[in-house]
Amino acid sequence: MFQVLMPNRTIVGEGAITSAKEQIQSLGTNALVISGKIVEKSGIVKKLTASLDEVGVKYTVFTDIKGEPDDLMVAAAKEVYDQSGCDMIIGIGGGSPQDSAKAVSAASDYAPIVLIPTTAGSGSEATKFYCVTESATDTKKLITDEKIIPKLAIIDPTLCVTAPKSITAATGMDALTHAVEAFTSKKATPYTDMFALSAIKRVFEFLPRAYANGEDIEARTEMSFAAYEAGVCINNASVTLVHGMSRPIGALFHVPHGISNAMLITKCLLFAKDGCLERFATIGRELGAAGTDAECADIFFDYLADLCKTIEIPTLEEYGIDRETFFLKMDKMADDAIASGSPGNTKKEVNKKDILKIYTDLWSE
Ligand SMILES: [Fe+2]
Repeated sequence: MFQVLMPNRTIVGEGAITSAKEQIQSLGTNALVISGKIVEKSGIVKKLTASLDEVGVKYTVFTDIKGEPDDLMVAAAKEVYDQSGCDMIIGIGGGSPQDSAKAVSAASDYAPIVLIPTTAGSGSEATKFYCVTESATDTKKLITDEKIIPKLAIIDPTLCVTAPKSITAATGMDALTHAVEAFTSKKATPYTDMFALSAIKRVFEFLPRAYANGEDIEARTEMSFAAYEAGVCINNASVTLVHGMSRPIGALFHVPHGISNAMLITKCLLFAKDGCLERFATIGRELGAAGTDAECADIFFDYLADLCKTIEIPTLEEYGIDRETFFLKMDKMADDAIASGSPGNTKKEVNKKDILKIYTDLWSE
């Protein structure tokens, strides 16, 4: 038996941001629009507010989300929400403003949420999850709350064309990580399997294209679908070891989420491989491999290495992280990874020693 949780309504397509205005209007009269400075500068927030003007929805724009949200940024946004008398929240941008919108909604009697991604990666528009870093302890908390699944998700691939290469790579790898982790999770279902394999194929085919040419609308569209599919996957089958180990790197070293996933994905999945070899083989076959389970799984890992190379994923060292500091903090990172619960979804027993070994091996290349 399994159940499926998805956003109430999802509107998809080029220009969706302007054609969804009536659906936005049906959810409230006064919106807090949460975004970041770069998205605002690109003119994307203006596209949204012009639509809100047309249907008479009042709004206040809050763009003080500087990177992945912490409790202080959320508190500042909540204050603006209260002062402006808002009754709905629109998160527009990458995963960070979307997660912030969820956090403000949770603190505001679950005001309705509209999410509009401008990157193809986090899948936040499809999920019951959000991350907020606790500033006092530098711990990135994963919060699960079905009441913050958005009332409306608006997926307009044209909003992704201004994303720079590094963001395209990081967010695309986040989507791939979601899909592969959901497919190899203890909580996988036939429904999430279908979405996961579809997302994986899309990422392998279209991420290199979106990375090479940001204005390739077909590639941006396929990546937007992939990110949403992968979001539905984790909403229903969760993430596993990679995300569990990735969050502490993000919290302590401020590595963007998708990049820390990409740094970890190969080593974590190689660890997980013998726990569900046939699942990794299925992914390999979907990507065109033929042969035994072991051969097809290996081909998937070859493709994964090629993809990381093509989109220039850095190592921890290349990213500029100090090795000594990393090793000093590793014990806390392993504890935080286990405490998040994600590693426990891996189809293989994972203990603290295994996690410490993978963190150590990230420095062995
Ligand atoms: Fe993620």
